[in-house]
Amino acid sequence: MTEPETTKRGDIIPPPEMVYDQGPQFKIDVADRLLRLPPYLFGRINALKMEKRRSGDDVIDLGMGNPSDPPQDWVIEKLAQTAEDLKSHGYSHSIGIPHLRREVAHKYSWKYGVQLDSEAEVVACLGSKEGFSHLCLALLGPGDTAIVPAPSFPIHVHALALASANVISLDVSDEKKFLRNIVYTCEQLYPKPKLLVVNFPHNPSSATVDSEFFVELIAIAKRFGFLIVHDFAYADIGFDGYQPPSILSVPGAKEIAVEFTTMSKGYNMAGWRVGFCAGNSEICRSLATIKGYYDYGMFLPVQVAAIMALRHGEDGVKEQSMIYQHRRDILCSALRRIGWEVETPRAGMFVWAKYPESWQQRMKSIDFAMFLLREANVAVSPGGAFGPVGEGYLRLALVENEHRLRQAVRQISRCLQQREPEEQETSLSE
Ligand SMILES: Cc1ncc(COP(=O)(O)O)c(C=O)c1O
Repeated sequence: MTEPETTKRGDIIPPPEMVYDQGPQFKIDVADRLLRLPPYLFGRINALKMEKRRSGDDVIDLGMGNPSDPPQDWVIEKLAQTAEDLKSHGYSHSIGIPHLRREVAHKYSWKYGVQLDSEAEVVACLGSKEGFSHLCLALLGPGDTAIVPAPSFPIHVHALALASANVISLDVSDEKKFLRNIVYTCEQLYPKPKLLVVNFPHNPSSATVDSEFFVELIAIAKRFGFLIVHDFAYADIGFDGYQPPSILSVPGAKEIAVEFTTMSKGYNMAGWRVGFCAGNSEICRSLATIKGYYDYGMFLPVQVAAIMALRHGEDGVKEQSMIYQHRRDILCSALRRIGWEVETPRAGMFVWAKYPESWQQRMKSIDFAMFLLREANVAVSPGGAFGPVGEGYLRLALVENEHRLRQAVRQISRCLQQREPEEQETSLSE
């Protein structure tokens, strides 16, 4: 038998007889639900970022909230060690092994004083995004309406659209106004909203609340009869002594609410895909049901290592928070030095910064972000990608080290000084 021909890298080159005639061109009609999705604004930024990297540019990437620090080494060791066990490689439980769910309940108990029945009130997910999306499918359908915070973390809108629900976005920048608008919407809308999504610390704006906010929110939800899903992705990242509150710590919350947490952020395990849904048992059951049809759960070694991280990793979580706090201080003061308006976030992984008025008047946030990437080699997320109320803002993720954060601001400053807005406008349209 002759050896197949290969490329230099070793990929097999298909023999000529395998390059089939493709026949008539079929039109692929995708389902309407895909057409309902709004345009993905990050696509343009990501494409340019890749292109620049391929051509050798050193892009300072503050675009995605993708942690660049590693998990604790002993967590990785546990993962590797469990993977050596040949019994670890079969399908697992779609809602997570009982020990993992017990460990989550234990963390809720010591960290938030919340008692959970790990059998009925905790579901493990393939990252909180998967859990959130499938929960929307489990709870909502055509004709249902959900309220989401604006600006919006994209999946909060996309998952609802994929579930065929209607979306009402309410500005979250002022918590009192947000509550008033929820009440107003519930009073005016018929049928009433079925579900409210909240997310504090908020992505992208970094808005935070104290537990009194949740007390009021639960009372409103009970009055109007809607469910609450709290995306608590930044639970582990609080600054200057601030501990983001769990909605489940409010008495009565479990009657109507669930909360998603994740190991992606505080534990630097974003690629591992470990998240949790906890709270109301009926809602958890609905998620467990739909997940049972869709997946077989996380790889067992991931679950075992996650248990160890939850059990022994709190010091690492605190250290990581301090790292973000330090980066926040550096980035906020560097931006203020060049005249930008920024609020100091007290939690999360982002600085939500207004870019200068003179540039706002001339460029939408997506164009300004593209401009910074092209000219300053700094990738940021345009506020407009999170909905219209995000216009005029950029979201900068604290995922590069201090030196590179300072460097990023220097590069932005230099680029803006060299190109006054008028001049830039002319050259962009050339
Ligand atoms: C608010 C929010 N929710 C959920 C996620 C996704 O988390 P996970 O990695 O657990 O899917 C993110 C990630 O950026 C986020 O910012």
